[in-house]
Amino acid sequence: MAMDYQKLYADRIGGEKFGTDTAIYKFEKIKRARKAFEAAHPEIPVINVGVGEHDGLQPELMSEVIARETREKRNKGYPDNGIIELQRAAVRHTNRTFRTNIPEADADKWAIHGMGSKNILALLPAGFINPGDTTLMTVPGYPVAGTWTRYFGGKVVNLPLHESNDFLPDLNEVDKIVPILNKVSKVKLMVVNYPNNPTGADGNREFYGDLARLANKYGFVVAQDGAYAGLEFGREPTSILQAEGGLECGLMIYSMSKAFNGIGRRIGIMVGNPKLIAAHANVKDNSDSGQDSAIQRAAAEALEHPEYTRQIASKYERRLGRLVDILNQNGFNAKMPAGSFFQYVRAPTGTRNGDTFKNAEEATKYMLEQHGVSTVPWDDVGSYLRFSATFDAGKDYNVLAGNPEADEVVLTELNKRLGNMQLKFD
Ligand SMILES: Cc1ncc(COP(=O)(O)O)c(C=O)c1O
Repeated sequence: MAMDYQKLYADRIGGEKFGTDTAIYKFEKIKRARKAFEAAHPEIPVINVGVGEHDGLQPELMSEVIARETREKRNKGYPDNGIIELQRAAVRHTNRTFRTNIPEADADKWAIHGMGSKNILALLPAGFINPGDTTLMTVPGYPVAGTWTRYFGGKVVNLPLHESNDFLPDLNEVDKIVPILNKVSKVKLMVVNYPNNPTGADGNREFYGDLARLANKYGFVVAQDGAYAGLEFGREPTSILQAEGGLECGLMIYSMSKAFNGIGRRIGIMVGNPKLIAAHANVKDNSDSGQDSAIQRAAAEALEHPEYTRQIASKYERRLGRLVDILNQNGFNAKMPAGSFFQYVRAPTGTRNGDTFKNAEEATKYMLEQHGVSTVPWDDVGSYLRFSATFDAGKDYNVLAGNPEADEVVLTELNKRLGNMQLKFD
């Protein structure tokens, strides 16, 4: 009898049942609704304000450095835990942005790269989480560190992000639950993501001060997923690292994907206390051999040019500002986000033509299937839609600040289609 290899599947992916679940996941549903619209209206392009993949190219400097450096012998080997040039650039970037005083001479101990911030977040729990330990995660959010916490036999406690608290976790609640959790578990990690996906909220100095105090009181690590760091609108960037005690408990994770348009280059960096970085470095060394040194050099050079990020941020700020107006004209209650790519708004409950939506997922399906407007639903804490300002405007994709006229064409069409929907919100 042939072996049924399905029986070998690990429990962490669902064991023998893996792949047999008939539940369809959110992004698969979006894909299907999109196909339905394209089949019914092949001549009308879908407006993609859903997935958050930007339409811009990385700065020309990064392309030049990569082209030049891949020809150099010094970049041909395994980069392992990284090249010192990127580590130093990351420390300088941190000190410049957050007025920290991390010694550049010790950059090899304070900074480490990863193959994107996703990879850093996935590996992070391996350095800290034993079976039974706890990671605190915010919801809605980017779940990778929580998923890997579970893979290692740890527990995840979710902290809801409510509009009434500016989409920040309630730290009084954290102060209450951590000692209770610590009686039966050990809270080791808390992951926060600011500027935030999907809410567009940002942290602030008071929040990070309180968070660092709690982390140092109870002895847990705060990992700030700063994938969107640098994309703040009209406010100063803030980080756990600049709080009092933040350099003890804090890790700041950067990505070249968003603030430097480098999604496909797969490069992220984590900066923080050498004791914490050392644990991560050990795990990383046992799982990959480092990102291409030519790409690391490109990232190092780009980090010396904060003006690239300012230009990219100006494009999203402009697009999101227009999006706010358009959404409000169509009955949504939109406010300018503090940062990120995203506009997060309460989902409509139906249309004046008699459609009703039980939740954001149903609203998304209607908007995409009937009108070719692709958004992402979030039903974790209330029912919200996420509109992303990363839509493809088809022009000047190599100009970091984008093209306002080309944006306007897409946004005008979006406004028209939203108008046709006759959405209601009661
Ligand atoms: C909140 C958040 N964190 C991390 C990532 C991962 O980014 P990357 O691995 O490209 O650095 C993303 C990507 O969408 C994200 O939205």
